[in-house]
Amino acid sequence: MSAASVFDVIIIGAGAAGLFCAGVAGQRGLKVLLIDHSPKVAEKIRISGGGRANFTNRDLDPRQPHKHYLSENPHFCRSALSRYTPADFVSLLQRHGVPFHEKHKGQLFCDRSAQDLIDVLLRECAAGGVTRWQPCAVQAVRFSDAEAATRYTVETDRGPAHAPALVVATGGLPVPKIGATDFGLRVARQFGLKVVEPRPALVPLTFEPSAWAPFAQLSGLALPVRIATGDKSQRQSFDEDLLFTHRGLSGPAVLQISSYWRPGAALRIDLHPEAALEPLLLAAKAQASRKQLPNELARHLPQRLADTWTATRADWQRPINETPDKALAQLADSLHRWALTPSGTEGYAKAEVMAGGVDTRELSSQTMASRQPGLYFIGEVVDVTGWLGGYNFQWAWASAYACAQAL
Ligand code: FDA
Repeated sequence: MSAASVFDVIIIGAGAAGLFCAGVAGQRGLKVLLIDHSPKVAEKIRISGGGRANFTNRDLDPRQPHKHYLSENPHFCRSALSRYTPADFVSLLQRHGVPFHEKHKGQLFCDRSAQDLIDVLLRECAAGGVTRWQPCAVQAVRFSDAEAATRYTVETDRGPAHAPALVVATGGLPVPKIGATDFGLRVARQFGLKVVEPRPALVPLTFEPSAWAPFAQLSGLALPVRIATGDKSQRQSFDEDLLFTHRGLSGPAVLQISSYWRPGAALRIDLHPEAALEPLLLAAKAQASRKQLPNELARHLPQRLADTWTATRADWQRPINETPDKALAQLADSLHRWALTPSGTEGYAKAEVMAGGVDTRELSSQTMASRQPGLYFIGEVVDVTGWLGGYNFQWAWASAYACAQAL
């Protein structure tokens, strides 16, 4: 075994969590090897936030992590998120002179491009003297109790590497075409650690083609809605924009609710959450308006939606002053309480994150160390899933930092 192949820690996965962990650990004086199979570094950061990386969220409250994160163990993420906060990451970017701005609901984005963020992470790795093998395929991970200093051997196409500690930062299953794999879940299972069944999250929802046919023509249309799923005890709702697509629904409202949606469950959508429609329609009728009902409705909703919606019933297609009050009430009610059941999701090809992953009950919330000696899991591979809006990157930074402090 050559000295050049022996490290203090090997990190597999040079994405958000792996790069950040490598830089912090390297700057603590550890000899770090970072391995990634992809030819390009941090592709998910590059494509994130429409190319500008929504890198954190100012509204995150680490005392109430369950508000913005899903996990079978909802309080697991609290310790790491409170020890490395959005303000900490913001000050890192400020030290590197990266310009950024706040968009919507506390979301912070790079002004120029996500490349600024990647450059910061690479400079932090360089400052820590991190060795990076990329592209480099990992063939196997072996553990031996014989000698603590080299208990992990990672077999790669550049030869073996050895270290007392191994950090798995290989992310989740979304977007396989840019290098996502189930490597982290396989390593967990190899060492007898439980995995919470993974599923696509922050993902567009789809409907049976025949049920969706009347709405497919609305593809591209967006509007603000209130969307909800779950029964009374576990109801979750969001006020965000909805987007119609050829196959179903997308947009921030649907991406957010998709993380909570379970197959077979219904969605409830209020297409005009800002005000009750019935009094507005009755008031228009009281003015003896001869306007066609779809055109009156279009004062409150996009015309294409008003036309499609009213086309389903003959008594919604008359002048408003000839429409019975009951029909107006039913129209308003149908728009405020649209109930529909998705047939599925667009899957990992279109999901932004994976829900589920390495069971947090197998990990220390202080250090991300697993029950298996010297083996750590950080970032998206862990069963901690953030809302849309920078929460997933903040989990990557916070879990990486907690781990790097413990190595
Ligand atoms: P990440 O996926 O970043 O890195 C994993 C690395 O492991 C990759 O470099 C991969 O090549 C490597 N790897 C995988 N398998 C391997 C193997 N077998 N061997 C070696 N290497 C392997 N979040 C957010 O907070 N704000 C945002 O704006 C967005 N936007 C966004 C857009 C899109 C289109 C997607 C798909 C996702 C987002 N996200 C997001 C989510 C965010 O990108 C994600 O949660 C983090 O990148 C997770 O960081 P990780 O380091 O855990 O995984």
